[in-house]
Amino acid sequence: MEAADFYTGIVADAYGHLKSSSFDADLYRDFVVTHGQSGLEIGCGDGAPLLDLRAEGVDVEGVDSSSDMLERCHANALRRGIEVRLHQQRVEDLALDRRYPSIYFAGPTFTLLPDDETARRALLRIQQHLTNDGMALIPLWVPAPTPTGEMSVSRCHDDGLGVEVRFTPVSETSDPVGRTRVTSCRYERITSTGTEVAEREWIIHWQTPSSFRRLCREAGLAVVDLVDDDTGTAAIDGSTSFTATVSTEIQRAAV
Ligand SMILES: C[S@@+](CC[C@H](N)C(=O)[O-])C[C@H]1O[C@@H](n2cnc3c(N)ncnc32)[C@H](O)[C@@H]1O
Repeated sequence: MEAADFYTGIVADAYGHLKSSSFDADLYRDFVVTHGQSGLEIGCGDGAPLLDLRAEGVDVEGVDSSSDMLERCHANALRRGIEVRLHQQRVEDLALDRRYPSIYFAGPTFTLLPDDETARRALLRIQQHLTNDGMALIPLWVPAPTPTGEMSVSRCHDDGLGVEVRFTPVSETSDPVGRTRVTSCRYERITSTGTEVAEREWIIHWQTPSSFRRLCREAGLAVVDLVDDDTGTAAIDGSTSFTATVSTEIQRAAV
């Protein structure tokens, strides 16, 4: 299975119930309002925070590689009475018929791109979809190994109607030189008629500030800001959570 297809089937069903972190809409709304509408949220999944921005009247569209996640996003939008424009594409192959003044990932979805070549292609596609004065916001994360105490421990959700979903990390390898952590996981859906199981490899390919700057340079993007989320100062190699703001080289040249 390719990394871009991870969030399909049972995983898409379980995601909304079992996700470990959610991202506040404020940062992304402020980014789009400041840098210009329409915005584009990459990896919008089942609609967080995209639908919160749409509910506030912000003009933003969503893109995701998983039709299963987008189906849930459509259903969530319908339930909330929100209109939203969604595209099923991989960011590394992004080919939309317009450009955007603001493009963002909500949370460190960029680290789901499984290697530097895919990450470089994604940055190039982002560069091609930004207006000349556009900006993109890319949160990044360097994962620690999953604590041994959490290995083989299931996170569960019971819907009260006879369906339980479970996520269990089973084993993990981490390659600091290749900047890649691979966690073998088991997802289960348990009903009165049986248990459906999916074994998946969750790949996190992380960037350091310097590897990210190099990829941006190769993709024709200028790094405007690279801020450590914990200290609020410039990210350094060693920062584990940081956020990049990037623009096209065209804009940099005009300044
Ligand atoms: C961790 S989920 C985040 C979903 C949502 N933003 C949230 O916070 O709940 C990551 C999303 O990125 C999508 N994704 C993964 N790889 C992708 C790729 N190469 N191109 C576009 N979307 C991708 C997945 O299908 C999934 O919906």
